[in-house]
Amino acid sequence: MRKRASSALASQAAPDTGRLASIRGPLLAWYDRERRDLPWRRTKDPYAIWLSEVMLQQTQVATVIPYWERFLARFPTVEALARAPLDDVLSAWRGLGYYSRARNLHRAAQEVVARFGGRLPSTAEALLTLPGFGRYTSGAVASIAFGEEAPLVDGNVARVLSRLFEVEGVPGDRAREARLWELAGALVRGERPGDLNQALMEHGATVCRPESPLCLLCPVRTACLAFQHGRVDELPPAKVRAAPKLLTLALAVWPHEDTLLFARRAEKGLFGGLWELPAVEVEPDAPEATAATRLSEALGVPVTAKAELGTVQRQLTHRTLTLRLLRVTGRQRPSRAPAFHEVRWCTPAQAEGLGMSTAMQRALEAAVKAGVLDR
Ligand code: ADE
Repeated sequence: MRKRASSALASQAAPDTGRLASIRGPLLAWYDRERRDLPWRRTKDPYAIWLSEVMLQQTQVATVIPYWERFLARFPTVEALARAPLDDVLSAWRGLGYYSRARNLHRAAQEVVARFGGRLPSTAEALLTLPGFGRYTSGAVASIAFGEEAPLVDGNVARVLSRLFEVEGVPGDRAREARLWELAGALVRGERPGDLNQALMEHGATVCRPESPLCLLCPVRTACLAFQHGRVDELPPAKVRAAPKLLTLALAVWPHEDTLLFARRAEKGLFGGLWELPAVEVEPDAPEATAATRLSEALGVPVTAKAELGTVQRQLTHRTLTLRLLRVTGRQRPSRAPAFHEVRWCTPAQAEGLGMSTAMQRALEAAVKAGVLDR
C-alpha cells in the first residue's frame, strides 16, 4: 500500500533527463528498425503530411492509404484544394466518414492561401489558428513536417505514456490529460521530434496495444513503471462508452422524369453540408402519413406518400441509423426548401458527383433498385 502511494506521487514529478533519455534512445532505435513503410513517411511535403494526419484521426491506416493517394492525385497542392468546389472535396472524402474533417481541410486550405501565401505555417502555435487544427494536428504537422519540438497526444500515445509513467485516471479526466501533454512535451525535446512522436504512436499501435500488449518485444519495458509494477493490463482503465443512439430518418424519394429530388443539409450536425435524398427525423414507428407531413414541412410544399420502398440500415460510431425510403409525389415541385441549403433535381448519375455520405449512396441505390425511375 505504502509503495503504491509513493510511486503514484513520484510519477507526478517532472521526469528527470536520465529517465527521459532511457526512453527516447531505445524508442527511436526501435522505430528506425521496425517502422511501417507508409506512403506519407516517404514525403516531406507538409500538405501531404497534414492530409495524412487528418485522415488518420478517426480511420485505420489500411483504409486511409488509397484515400490519401487518390485525394493527392485529385488535389495535389494546397492551392488546388483551396480552388476546388466543396462538393468535389466531399465527394473525394465519401466513405471516410466524419465529413467535418473534409470541410475544415477545405476551409483551412483557403486560409493558408489567403493568409500565408499557400505555405503552411511551421509552428504548432500558428497552425492552431487554422480551422480543424486542434492540439493534436498542430503538434503532428509542426513536428513531422517542420521538425518543431511540439508534443502530441492521441489515443495510442495516451496509452503508452499512461503505462510508462503510471498515469492514473480515466480517459477524459482533465488532470490526466494535462499530465499526458506535459509528459509528451518533456519526451519530445531533443533530436528528431517528428520521429519521436511517430515512434510513440507506432509503438502504441503495434506493441503497446490496448489488449494483449507485447511487453516481451517492448524496447522500453525496463523503463516502464506499469511493467515493473505488474499493472500493464489495468492502465489505462477502459473508457465508459455510451451506447449508440438510434436515429430513424424518413427519406423522400420523389421521381420526376429521369430525375429525383436531392437536398443539401445545413452545415452543422450529422452529415452537415452533404447532399441526400431529402431526410427528416421521425419516430421509428411513425406512420407513413406522419413522415409525409414532416417531409412537407421540411420541403415547404405538400407531399403525399405513395409507397414505402424499404429501409437501409447503417452502423456509425455513435449512431445506429435507419433510413426509411418513402416514394412521394406532390403538385408543386420545389426549387428551394426551408429546411435545406439547396435542392436540385438530378439523375442518379449526376448525383454521383455531389458530396453524399455512404449511407445516402446506399439509400439511393436501394431506391433505384426498387424501380422508382423505371417507366
Ligand atoms: N497515427 C496518426 N498519425 C500517425 C503517424 N504519423 N504515425 C503513426 N501512427 C499515426
